[in-house]
Amino acid sequence: MTMREKLEQLEGRRALAEQGGGAARIKAQHDKGKLSARERLDLLLDEGSFVEYDRFVTHRSTDFGLGDQRIYGDGVVTGHGRIDGRLVYVFSQDFTVFGGSLSETFAEKICKVMDLAVRNGAPVVGLNDSGGARIQEGVVSLGGYADIFLRNTMASGVVPQISAILGPCAGGAVYSPAITDFVYMVRGSSYMFVTGPNVVKTVTHEDVTMERLGGADTHAATSGVAHFAHDSELQSIQAIRELFRYIPQNNLDAPPRGTGRDPHDRRDEGLLDVVPDNANKPYDMHEVIRRIVDDGTFYEVHREFAQNILCGFAHLGGHSVGIVANQPAVLAGVLDINASVKAARFVRFCDAFNIPIVTFEDVPGFLPGVAQEHGGIIRHGAKLLYAYCEATVPKLTVITRKAYGGAYDVMSSKHIRGDFNVAWPTAEIAVMGPKGAVEILFRKEIAEAPDPAKAMDERVAEYTEKFANPYVAAARGYVDDIIDPRDTRPRLIDALQTLQGKRDRNPPRKHGNLPL
Ligand code: HXC
Repeated sequence: MTMREKLEQLEGRRALAEQGGGAARIKAQHDKGKLSARERLDLLLDEGSFVEYDRFVTHRSTDFGLGDQRIYGDGVVTGHGRIDGRLVYVFSQDFTVFGGSLSETFAEKICKVMDLAVRNGAPVVGLNDSGGARIQEGVVSLGGYADIFLRNTMASGVVPQISAILGPCAGGAVYSPAITDFVYMVRGSSYMFVTGPNVVKTVTHEDVTMERLGGADTHAATSGVAHFAHDSELQSIQAIRELFRYIPQNNLDAPPRGTGRDPHDRRDEGLLDVVPDNANKPYDMHEVIRRIVDDGTFYEVHREFAQNILCGFAHLGGHSVGIVANQPAVLAGVLDINASVKAARFVRFCDAFNIPIVTFEDVPGFLPGVAQEHGGIIRHGAKLLYAYCEATVPKLTVITRKAYGGAYDVMSSKHIRGDFNVAWPTAEIAVMGPKGAVEILFRKEIAEAPDPAKAMDERVAEYTEKFANPYVAAARGYVDDIIDPRDTRPRLIDALQTLQGKRDRNPPRKHGNLPL
């Protein structure tokens, strides 16, 4: 054959590889409202940037007639591309080929891009749409999963790992996404469960739909397995591209600078009126965040889960920051099990990837009660404490109102290496709220008083005057300053700039023992 004939042959084989499981199966995929593996990559990556590897790989199995059905690429499209010009390694599972099920060679292809990502210091984005282990390959397929799990674990904290769930994701297949940093799901078409509704019915006699058992809303709002739920694949994939505005390439790189033009010295008059005069009235911490960050843009993570705490990314004076904020509008911003776990994982992501953490604090404490105690609020709350304690990135804290009890310590206090801690004049920093404190300290006195209600009010007023303010903490240097809320943005930006060269280290050790 001549070179030209050989090139024609190559083109023919490439075209074959691009067909995946064939036109009929691609149509079936479209009919379900789903895109093909390659269409998804086109949406995710900068135009024309995708470079494919291993397109001629086929499976090695001969069982159950598989020997006659070799399909180029074997059900997963892998390679590298660019997001806003930045290198990213990708794999996109192709449901049209054996239901996107994972074979030995399928796993090898994914492992190859993961190894390259770690070696070259670039994020990995996995687009998942798979029937799980390829049944015909048996234990070899299980081994393939384990090879991926090991790489997910080794890459954790080295390069960002992002998973989009764009179809079924069953059995052990859920555990690779679960180890990754952020999981995106699509309502109505993506599912994650250890076993599907049929097995659930057999084992526990529960009748449950796919959507309720493991759909996007279930995992985004109830289990917390997913960080994002969107209405379409397009929205999900666009949201992944947006995430890249805030995260670095790897643990040795700085996060990208924001491109907004919001003036660094912008004061915000509206911040004077956000916190209500009545300390027990709620307000929306989103408003505080929006008024302070660059152009009011807050990329919220885990928005539907544990809404009593807010986590997300923003830019402040162009610096990428991770924001953790108590949300007084939900459960008074109390720390419960889910809020602790949500924020702990977020803080650890930021710390691993050199993203300073800005904490907005208004927290009445940890949530009391039998359910929380029996659920392990002590163990789970300790995760958040541990995460903040071990974090060595710049830590900035603004106490807007309540900083009570253990929650004061936990939420990035000075004592656990907070770098810049300030309070608004409305801050109340104390062991507990005035009413609770007075009931404990003066119960007998109030009961015996001629007018108990009046006695109570007097003691509450006295306590509030003495303790429910920021001056006791400021007198000890536990907060660096009490600031005018309108100055919060310029003060935070100035602090971020001073902390650019921060050096802090934890003692050498194999690893700590985070209370899991
Ligand atoms: C081989 C598979 C497959 C699998 C699907 N297919 N799953 N082939 N191994 N695991 C094939 C089907 O035979 C079919 O081939 C095509 O993919 C599409 O599947 P359908 O069933 O027609 O599609 P749909 O109705 O959309 O249902 C999708 C599904 C269902 C919900 C994913 O296929 C399903 O339940 N599959 C099995 C899921 C599962 O139990 N996997 C193992 C989990 S255990 P044709 O030729 O007809 O188009 C596991 C262990 C991992 O993953 C352990 C790691 C620790």
